[in-house]
Amino acid sequence: MSGYLRLGVNIDHVATIRNARGGPHPDPVRAAHIAEAAGADGITIHLREDRRHIRDGDLDAVRNATRLPINLEMAVTEEMQAIATVFRPYAVCLVPERREERTTEGGLNVAGMHNRVAPIVTALRAAGSRVSLFIEPDPVQIAVAEVLGAPVVELHTGRYAELWLEGGAEAAGPELERLKFAAADARRRGIEPHAGHGLTFDNVGPVAAITELAELNIGHFLIGEAIFIGLDAAIGEMRRRMDIARGAAVAG
Ligand code: PXP
Repeated sequence: MSGYLRLGVNIDHVATIRNARGGPHPDPVRAAHIAEAAGADGITIHLREDRRHIRDGDLDAVRNATRLPINLEMAVTEEMQAIATVFRPYAVCLVPERREERTTEGGLNVAGMHNRVAPIVTALRAAGSRVSLFIEPDPVQIAVAEVLGAPVVELHTGRYAELWLEGGAEAAGPELERLKFAAADARRRGIEPHAGHGLTFDNVGPVAAITELAELNIGHFLIGEAIFIGLDAAIGEMRRRMDIARGAAVAG
């Protein structure tokens, strides 16, 4: 298991701001350039059913702008499957999606949706994408991910982040334990665990210290922080905090 923890930067919210005015600014392509120069290991984009973040035209534009691997987050729908099998990103992360939600709430219930998820995993893998399932850190979901043949799971850190906001590290402790257990469980099953959602400068350390994790995907906080300190500085600081936490975990 490598000591290095990859950072995927989710640039959707650059598009959210662009879409608020309907013009071309700010351009997610520029964010992809800056993320690459700042040391990101991947670019994550979520093509939502309602296209409120990035849009279809952004897919090729972003890919052509960077050498970094593209991780496309998408719902389990026939429309998205058709788009992804043509676009063929390096990775696809299947996420739950409801129109009315403000962000991805909760993980994909792969245990309850096995029959819907199985053919899409097969089709995306056949198209050459690395398939990831965005799930709760729950042993049942991880067991089903193994049955589905997913090479990657992304563990939802939203609950951890919420608890952190309510009461800091202490309040988030039990959820951190669930994340640790889930990451180790995934590794035992031969699945590469990633994590993401709601991660910030303050709460990233304990998650980054989970040595089984190979990648974090972080978006909203970085784009928000970019308003104050710039995107390159925000990514650089996140990278630094991840390295410190990971370095301490590997050394310890
Ligand atoms: N990972 C997945 C699967 C997501 O859906 C999201 C949110 O789009 C993220 C990571 C990033 O979450 P945040 O924007 O809260 O950092």
